[in-house]
Amino acid sequence: MPTTNWTRHHILTLADFTPAEYNIVLQTAASFQEVLSRRTKKVPTLQGQVVANLFFEPSTRTRSSFELAAKRLSADTLNFASATSSMTKGETILDTAKTYLAMGTDIMVIRHREAGVPNAIAEEMDRLGAKVSVLNAGDGQHEHPSQALLDLFTICTLLDPDYPHLELLKGKKIAIVGDILHSRVARSNIWSFTASGAELHLAAPPTLLPKLFADYGKNRPGKLFLHWELEPALRDADFVMTLRLQKERMTAHLLPSLREYHQLFGIARSKLQLCKPNVKVLHPGPVNRGVEISSDLMDDPEFSLIQNQVTSGVAVRMALLYLLGSGKT
Ligand code: CP
Repeated sequence: MPTTNWTRHHILTLADFTPAEYNIVLQTAASFQEVLSRRTKKVPTLQGQVVANLFFEPSTRTRSSFELAAKRLSADTLNFASATSSMTKGETILDTAKTYLAMGTDIMVIRHREAGVPNAIAEEMDRLGAKVSVLNAGDGQHEHPSQALLDLFTICTLLDPDYPHLELLKGKKIAIVGDILHSRVARSNIWSFTASGAELHLAAPPTLLPKLFADYGKNRPGKLFLHWELEPALRDADFVMTLRLQKERMTAHLLPSLREYHQLFGIARSKLQLCKPNVKVLHPGPVNRGVEISSDLMDDPEFSLIQNQVTSGVAVRMALLYLLGSGKT
């Protein structure tokens, strides 16, 4: 592994991530990607440490890849799902976290439908003087740092497989299209892509992209643009990320119909003609096929990086667990 100057104890947001930190994550993930290509895909790095996946909200990718990442690092893993836990008997979130602390957990990976829960648990752990690290695996509409880091890694490794680094995105045009209002992934991506010096274009109907998103672009190395139509965002884009319509978070009627949404903002092969010829399409998943992206485009390896994102997730999450856990061994 690369020797690092990593000092961050919790990973809760990318808002204050430095270019050096992004590059440490990218290069550590590249090392683990190499490990994952070997016949023996396991290293003893976190042997004896305990990684607890505390998922208070459903997940497929994040939960499984954090579990696999921890196992590849030889950590012991604990998996919690609120629906089958003592929370059904009235136990609180903080008491649940303290229970896992008492079992010797070194890293807590936390997903919750409410923004701020990982921060609240991290504050409580710090107040108790516990050495446990907290990693935000998606909290409400707030942030999903590990997803944005794996998106960044997927793009950077495509541009330079041997030396993925943040500066590769300088001058690249990236479009994020869809339900930006409800997306924690978009918020974390905005921080990472604008840290890189890329030109980031957000596109959605006005109900899903309030003007206040322009504030995210203030004082960032990259430029941020907002569009309430698709074409200007796609024109000459190098990368297009489309987002799921998060119907479970929509409290009002924000769209006339899914059919109209697909016509206006859905990504299909025909619309990619506006982009650079070698454009690539990303989606954090889970996908509503035929809504935010056409089904055939999603499965087209010429354009789609969606499976690459999932694969990158294991290496990036190994990197994050390693960086948080290596100080503890
Ligand atoms: N991208 C993502 O967070 O997917 P899951 O909800 O399946 O973890």
